[in-house]
Amino acid sequence: MEIQYRTDGISTQNPHTNDFLESVFFHGNGYIGARGFPCEDQSQRPHQKGLYMAGVFDELKPGITDIVNTPNFLGLTVKVEDQDLHNASKSAFCQQLSFRDGVLAREYVASFGQKHIKIRLSRFFSLADVHTTVIRLEVTPLDFEGELTVLAALDATSCNLPIQDDQVKKNTETVRYVETVDSSLLEDGGLLVYKTRVTRITIAQAFCLKLSDNVQVLSRQNQVSEQGLDYMLTFRGRAQETYVIDKIITVYTSRDIHTHQIKDMVLNHLSLNGDKGYDRLLKENEAAWARRWETSDVVISGDERAQCAIRYTIFQLIANNASQDSAVSIGARGLTHARYKGCYFWDTEIFMLPFYIYTNPEAAKNLLLYRYHTLDAAREHAKKMTAAGARYPWMTSYDGSEQCESWDIGACEVHITADVVYGMDHYIRATGDTQFLLDQAAEVYLETARFWESRFTYDQRSDHYNMLFVKGPDEYCGATQNNTYTNMLAVYNLTLALETLKFLEAQHKEVHERLISKLGLKTDELLRWEDIIQKAVIPYDKEKDLYLQDETFMLLEPLDVARIKSDNIPLYHRICFDRLQRYRVIKQADLILLVALFPHKFTQAQKKAIWDFYEPITLHDSTLSYGIHALIAAQLGLKEKAWNYFCKSLYLDLDNIMENTGSEGLHLAALGASWQALFFGFAGLSLEDGMPKAAPNLPDNWSELRFTFLFQGKQWRFEAKRDENGSMTAGTVFVDQ
Ligand code: BGC
Repeated sequence: MEIQYRTDGISTQNPHTNDFLESVFFHGNGYIGARGFPCEDQSQRPHQKGLYMAGVFDELKPGITDIVNTPNFLGLTVKVEDQDLHNASKSAFCQQLSFRDGVLAREYVASFGQKHIKIRLSRFFSLADVHTTVIRLEVTPLDFEGELTVLAALDATSCNLPIQDDQVKKNTETVRYVETVDSSLLEDGGLLVYKTRVTRITIAQAFCLKLSDNVQVLSRQNQVSEQGLDYMLTFRGRAQETYVIDKIITVYTSRDIHTHQIKDMVLNHLSLNGDKGYDRLLKENEAAWARRWETSDVVISGDERAQCAIRYTIFQLIANNASQDSAVSIGARGLTHARYKGCYFWDTEIFMLPFYIYTNPEAAKNLLLYRYHTLDAAREHAKKMTAAGARYPWMTSYDGSEQCESWDIGACEVHITADVVYGMDHYIRATGDTQFLLDQAAEVYLETARFWESRFTYDQRSDHYNMLFVKGPDEYCGATQNNTYTNMLAVYNLTLALETLKFLEAQHKEVHERLISKLGLKTDELLRWEDIIQKAVIPYDKEKDLYLQDETFMLLEPLDVARIKSDNIPLYHRICFDRLQRYRVIKQADLILLVALFPHKFTQAQKKAIWDFYEPITLHDSTLSYGIHALIAAQLGLKEKAWNYFCKSLYLDLDNIMENTGSEGLHLAALGASWQALFFGFAGLSLEDGMPKAAPNLPDNWSELRFTFLFQGKQWRFEAKRDENGSMTAGTVFVDQ
């Protein structure tokens, strides 16, 4: 199917609903968001109307949660002399999603025999007031006069189609997570209140309809049933006249406000919004988006397609982030799909977080506060694993407990604990938010350091510490020994904990004392951390000056990657995991990612050696891989590679490169990695010593790259241009006054 994108949005002329279009037309405000399903089409099955809210999970089975497909409140349609819109043939179809303000608009001519009616639907989830959603339906009978019936609904039949963690299995059974507990019919709308089955989250939704003056209502009817709430009104439509019906919706949950106050809150809020009306609500939404774009926009000259795609990337990173909520993170597919049951991974801290750090630090802090708020769950998890301190689980949802059901991944992919710490340290270094260090991060550093101490195994014979039965970012490595990525991050975590203690002792004595006594830290513990830092094994081939991914890597059977993989579809669809883990191939950036995280820990020669050895055997079977390869290739000056990898990452969803965008939703980590490739790779930004420096490596077809970013509380501007001869001017970074 055809998707066109312009700098201000994407559009399609394809009138047929399909999963792919619904994924790429996702829109939301981070609190809530919807796949781009047509709200006027009543023929779709309930689980297909994907509408998700940050933090609203229920239990699929004991201990395992799923993000709830929120009851669909978007339903708004029109019947033409009793005939359903979805049965009409459609022409002149156009659907557009505007990045500027998140408005999704669908427009077409519906034909019922000789009768034609123009339909336009626009909807948005307000970024100014996340509890507000607005839909405008405009109908214009083109060549007839007749009875039109508007139907606005709250659909209580929504359900989920949970997807197995095991990516090769498909599920066909649907599950309903909500039951209706209250309802009210309003003069011009209605309200339904639901509760989730196990987590007992209350969700209240209410709407009212606002009509243009020319809608002369002949009859009204509303009803509540088990299926939901329907509100119908009939009027006579005349040819060539446009009638406007606005559905204004308010949603609150017991995550926002106490259950017994929800109903009043929703109704009061709705009444205020009803008074404001569509135009004012739209203006407020536009202003909120404009504020976000002010610190996030990226301008690329000379490449219209990349310009549009990077704006799409930024739009989706904003639309999937509940920036004000410190009790949630961002799922691997954001709110765009229930894949992975909406769970949070290291995808947030390592791949997405930098975007928020440099464009909306408050949002970044809230993402990290989620980790702080789930520190007790991480402590519990460490206990369960018979380890000390705090160990962040691989997949989490609202309460921070482990959600991963596959043993090797959940138990062995321990690097997530240090990834969380890395995210906190990155945020503090970039923002100078010492208060966050004192109030939250320091405690996390110390408790995670304790975990690492208990996770390393001391080998008396060699006087070294080994990390045994571990899985690095490369999930095809089985359970291996001494994964370099994990060990280096663990050592960094331990070092950071010790440095932080020194800093606190010197400059914040009371915090130092509080933590020592709260955590019962002992001097001999700190000495052991020091010992591990000195003696942890980091696999390294001295002769080749090459870091090794882990200790068994060289024992694996080489595989001719070019021969075995000619497309972008992950190999695990064709080769069993058990076999894959015995080949010397890599699922996704592992050591190459380590270079991106610690650019100053490697010499230029070591970086090049890592690239030369690992890049040819990397399969990119995870979407987390391309963007990081683009970043490092750009830093190494490998122009062609940088460009090819960047395109794979940037167009991953827009071009459906992995062929799973429809069935799984948008890949949020890839969006974050594309942004990082541009920021740290093409712009070549480094932010050491409080002073941003640029070393641009722009793709040949870009004549200019510029953007603003926030660093140490100031707004900075980056600019790089090509002169008339095509050579780059040095990139400049300066404080934007
Ligand atoms: C990747 C993980 C990632 C997860 C969720 C997996 O395929 O290997 O690194 O965290 O997907 O995006």
